[in-house]
Amino acid sequence: MRIDPWSSQQSTDYARLRDEFGIEEFTFADDLPDPPSLVRRGVIFGHRGFARVHRAIKLAEPWGVLTGLMPSGPMHIGHKMVIDQVSYYQRLGADITVCVADIEAYATRGLSLEKCREIAVENYIKNYFALGLKPDRLQIYFQSKRQAVKDLAWQLGKRVNWSKMEAIYGFTGETSMGHAFAPLVQVGDILHPQLPEYGGPRPIVVPVGVDQDPHIRLTRDLADASRLYNAQVHDDAKLGRVVGVFVKSDEQVEKLLAKARSALEKQGFADFVMNPKYKALYVRGSASDLPAIDDALAAIEPGLGGFGFIAPASTYHRFQGGLTGGKMSSSKPETHIALDETIESATKKLGSAQTGGRATAEEQRRLGAEPDKCMVYETYVYHLVPDDKELAEVREWCTTGTKLCGECKAFGKEKVAAFLKSHQEKRAATEHLVKEVVRED
Ligand code: TRP
Ligand code: SF4
Repeated sequence: MRIDPWSSQQSTDYARLRDEFGIEEFTFADDLPDPPSLVRRGVIFGHRGFARVHRAIKLAEPWGVLTGLMPSGPMHIGHKMVIDQVSYYQRLGADITVCVADIEAYATRGLSLEKCREIAVENYIKNYFALGLKPDRLQIYFQSKRQAVKDLAWQLGKRVNWSKMEAIYGFTGETSMGHAFAPLVQVGDILHPQLPEYGGPRPIVVPVGVDQDPHIRLTRDLADASRLYNAQVHDDAKLGRVVGVFVKSDEQVEKLLAKARSALEKQGFADFVMNPKYKALYVRGSASDLPAIDDALAAIEPGLGGFGFIAPASTYHRFQGGLTGGKMSSSKPETHIALDETIESATKKLGSAQTGGRATAEEQRRLGAEPDKCMVYETYVYHLVPDDKELAEVREWCTTGTKLCGECKAFGKEKVAAFLKSHQEKRAATEHLVKEVVRED
């Protein structure tokens, strides 16, 4: 099994993807304030490192969200899913950074930077406020314009060799260097919010589809590799269970250990054992304090010549299928509902969408239909019916055959018409906010 971020083929065997790639199951739904339907319904199926973000939410400490958009085609309901998550996180207190992946689009799809900008603003960003994002503590930037992102790409690129890029991405001798550089730019995207001028080290979560996981793995590896300190729970023969803080380089070991110690003293830690020979500082009786210890170390790294990047977390959402039954695709209008689509066209698409209905009305009244095979039902789950009670009613009429697909689709058409009408009105009323959040650097 391989994950290729640039292919349109992606496995949807989520349990297997989790097992094979070491993605953890997302189990935070019951322990998040007012979780949105995507979280309650298990659409968010996996994560890496989300516990660190969860902790920041609980302690009301600073944390952020980084998301990226690939400017291509119209924005459709599949893309809306990410913005729904981002605006939920914004309500929970995250600062938000949105990247327009214009370097990637240039390198992998041959779009000019000007075209990317136009598509990003007109097709994507102008929808964001209507979907619930607020302009405060939100910024949107272009990869090609943000020097810090490109600097990180080459600085961290020094720590990756070609074998690793081949292993992760399947690059070959035919791969263009522009394409080969794009993942490093994405590493820069994901890590740069932790640079001092963009808010400093803090937990960052990147909500993505599983196709982006190779970039996440690379980024988390490089974040760890670039740290000055490595803190881990350590079972010591003499000291018992401690947090070991290890200096990674061979230079200035004693100075770095002393700095770590005084930073941790300021956080209230008191019971230390220094072991310069092992480049180690042990903190007694503190296994559950590992995140707090790592936060304190990350915070001092920029002042000591490091970055202090806390490995970013990711969450993975299931892909909504296309209306016609295959994949949802930007370039195939019949598979999606675009946010700027007319109500006539959207209701028509819903009308001809693939359902889980039976061959005859008689059979469906007798056996009920199969909602889990139905693309209309999936649209309800992901977007159109956020209320759980109402969704249960739909499921009930579907599985009992009380309503047949025609009547159910009429209900769906009303929902999609109401959504589009309200969305398009909100968009017209809020699109002027774009200039407040789009940065030129
Ligand atoms: N590669 C992403 C895509 O194809 C776009 C992207 C660029 C991105 N930088 C990012 C996504 C950072 C998440 C985080 O859609
Ligand atoms: Fe889908 Fe509705 Fe038909 Fe059930 S009744 S299969 S949910 S269209």
